[in-house]
Amino acid sequence: MTKALEGIKIIDFTHVQAGPACTQLLAWYGADVIKVERPGSGDVTRNQLRDIPDADALYFTMLNSNKRSLTLDTKKPEGKEVLEKLIKVSDVMVENFGPGALDRMGFSWKRILELNPKMILASVKGFSDGHHYDDLKVYENVAQCAGGAASTTGFWDGPPVISAAALGDSNTGMHLAIGILTALRQRDKTGAGQKVAVSMQDSVLNLCRVKLRDQQRLDRVGYLEEYPQYPHGSFSDVVPRGGNAGGGGQPGWILKCKGWQTDPNAYIYFTIQGHAWEPICDAIGKPEWKTDPAYTTARARQPHIVEIFGTIEAWLADKTKFEAVDILRKHDIPCAPVLSMKELADDPSLRESGTITEVEHKVRGKYLTVGSPIKFSDMKVEITGSPLLGEHTEEVLAELGYSRDGIQQLHAANAV
Ligand code: COA
Repeated sequence: MTKALEGIKIIDFTHVQAGPACTQLLAWYGADVIKVERPGSGDVTRNQLRDIPDADALYFTMLNSNKRSLTLDTKKPEGKEVLEKLIKVSDVMVENFGPGALDRMGFSWKRILELNPKMILASVKGFSDGHHYDDLKVYENVAQCAGGAASTTGFWDGPPVISAAALGDSNTGMHLAIGILTALRQRDKTGAGQKVAVSMQDSVLNLCRVKLRDQQRLDRVGYLEEYPQYPHGSFSDVVPRGGNAGGGGQPGWILKCKGWQTDPNAYIYFTIQGHAWEPICDAIGKPEWKTDPAYTTARARQPHIVEIFGTIEAWLADKTKFEAVDILRKHDIPCAPVLSMKELADDPSLRESGTITEVEHKVRGKYLTVGSPIKFSDMKVEITGSPLLGEHTEEVLAELGYSRDGIQQLHAANAV
């Protein structure tokens, strides 16, 4: 079976998470992704948070599967020459260096276009070009603060909070992948390459779209009826942190289940969807609420929302999160258990679908990774182990036409 992106050659000049997440996705779908790494050390994540001495860290292996690794010192003439040859035969170059690093290396967009007018140069930076912070280096949490996620996450009486989901890094990588595929599609029509740029701030903000919705509603009416602050608390002129409130028109909350005293994840998320109100009343043993005007509409319920969730929590006290969901699903009530990473790692459905998958690595042996979250009816995605540092250097150089002597000379230059 052929892979959708077979025949697309990508120079993966990325490191840490944002860039590698993008190129890994494209590698899964068949692109030939050649990761260019600094000789001796490579991507910094190979060494970060190691759990096995002398084996690439999971941070690296889980973001660089299905790729080849080429070591090159691209600040030396010998390395630059190889990179130039590679640019001439590649379709895409992806990079997420600090601002200006590629230019300082001698590979400005102008120079890249001279070498290959069909090239797509895809870049991640913390802030977009021309932004007043565009000189800043940026990591995940910095982007979450700059993109609006931190100010709107957490509880109203506590400080801003960072999400565990990589909204700044992997999310930006996913945006970049969409940009690359779009540019490839445009190149099919025009024959020309182009620069694709995604900033981490913009990518976070794109996911915080509903909070900008809320800012405008707040500006207009002075309150946000789906937030816990309504109607008993107060609002300032900025979108507050709403704890675990539902972000749309359906009130929801995280509720304790049996065992919460000792199990940090004995909780469910419970959503009160309007049409499910009567089934909810039946499920929690409050049939009288079905006809009581103080509860029959969403607006009537809002002043009692804390009391309603308290009643549901009392009903949950003798049920595990799994038992509770099994009862609630029969009533078509949107809900889910709060799952720990351990539960997800062992989840048979996720193993079956390939979303959690076991991969073989030459040094560390088997490890778990997150496979493709996108499923195709006509393409099987196979996840292979990440490459060792420089594992494919000779192979790639030979493909570029280097002789045995030429390869040896490059090895010598890399070693100095
Ligand atoms: N050979 C020789 N030099 C190389 C090289 C290679 N193969 N690969 C990288 N380098 C050099 C670069 O040319 C640059 O040198 P310079 O600063 O002298 O010009 C240097 O290594 C890398 O710099 P930089 O990317 O700024 O690394 P850093 O460790 O200081 O900063 C980040 C890391 C992530 C903060 C920064 O890269 C960044 O802000 N990136 C954009 C946003 C981003 O993607 N952040 C999230 C990452 S998950």
